[in-house]
Amino acid sequence: MPSTTRLYCVYCAKSQKNLSGKALKKIVIIGYGNVGWHLARELYRAGHNISQIFSRKKKTADTLAKTVHATVVNDWDSVDSDADFYLLAVSDDAIEEVSQNLKKNSGVVAHTSGTVASSALANHERFGVFYPLQTFTRYVELDWSVIPFCIWGNRSEVRESLMNLALTVNYRVSLISDEDRANLHVAAVFANNFSNHVFAIAEDICLSNGLDFSIIKPLISESVKKLTHSSPSQVQTGPAARGDKATMDKHLERLGSMPEYQAIYQILSKSIMKGVGKRGELGAEPNVPRKL
Ligand SMILES: NC(=O)c1ccc[n+]([C@@H]2O[C@H](COP(=O)([O-])OP(=O)(O)OC[C@H]3O[C@@H](n4cnc5c(N)ncnc54)[C@H](OP(=O)(O)O)[C@@H]3O)[C@@H](O)[C@H]2O)c1
Repeated sequence: MPSTTRLYCVYCAKSQKNLSGKALKKIVIIGYGNVGWHLARELYRAGHNISQIFSRKKKTADTLAKTVHATVVNDWDSVDSDADFYLLAVSDDAIEEVSQNLKKNSGVVAHTSGTVASSALANHERFGVFYPLQTFTRYVELDWSVIPFCIWGNRSEVRESLMNLALTVNYRVSLISDEDRANLHVAAVFANNFSNHVFAIAEDICLSNGLDFSIIKPLISESVKKLTHSSPSQVQTGPAARGDKATMDKHLERLGSMPEYQAIYQILSKSIMKGVGKRGELGAEPNVPRKL
């Protein structure tokens, strides 16, 4: 595991002007789930031509595609072969199959996965990755200006094309290798999927006891806000961080009728007590602004 943080080629708003001032692109979006829906809308808003959307659920997609003036297709022979980009927003386990189904074309073929290696698209001449590091749910609008884009491509010219495309919707664009993206994705699962699951458990415990979950929400907001200034390991609080065994035992007793939550409580408490996640900041003071 590397001990230092690597720096990537991150373009800023200044360079966006130079790189994105090119002709707007013809794009085919393949897969119209959470990511496909968002990408189609945002790239359309940026002025690109979303020429086609490939969806096996043509009927549903037809209605949604109207907003981006795209034609919906559901057979591979009908997919245009002259688009600039083919963005595969399909389930991870379908990427390779979809790539094989997609006929030869003159564009760049890229997938949007955090985990799948770019080589899954190697049957095409120009291929890469167009991974937006954010959580997407269809119909839930997002602030695109803060979404980091992780880009990779099999040639420098492909990397540049994908970076230029990302820069038309955002300026947080980084070149990230397959290996680094896969590690980032593991971290993202902890940071987003697991933390959200823990929030869902908190909600369930509240509801099971006739309590309103909204009373917990300011606590959640504050936990996230603290990360602006500090490493999460520096600001860990709670009974496990204090080594308060008596309180932990009481909590475990209360969770007696919820054995799955009991097990999760124990695993997380152990991890906190062992100091897992602390790296180089042990004993350091949190870097929070203080009032004098
Ligand atoms: N959601 C996120 O927060 C997020 C964030 C970043 C990256 N990603 C990545 O983006 C990609 C799409 O994720 P998602 O959340 O948008 O998934 P999703 O909502 O489940 O949508 C997946 C899409 O893939 C299509 N699909 C699945 N198998 C297919 C096949 N064999 N042939 C053609 N189409 C197929 C589905 O089509 P049907 O509707 O016809 O079944 C559906 O449109 C994944 O690689 C994921 O890792 C997701």
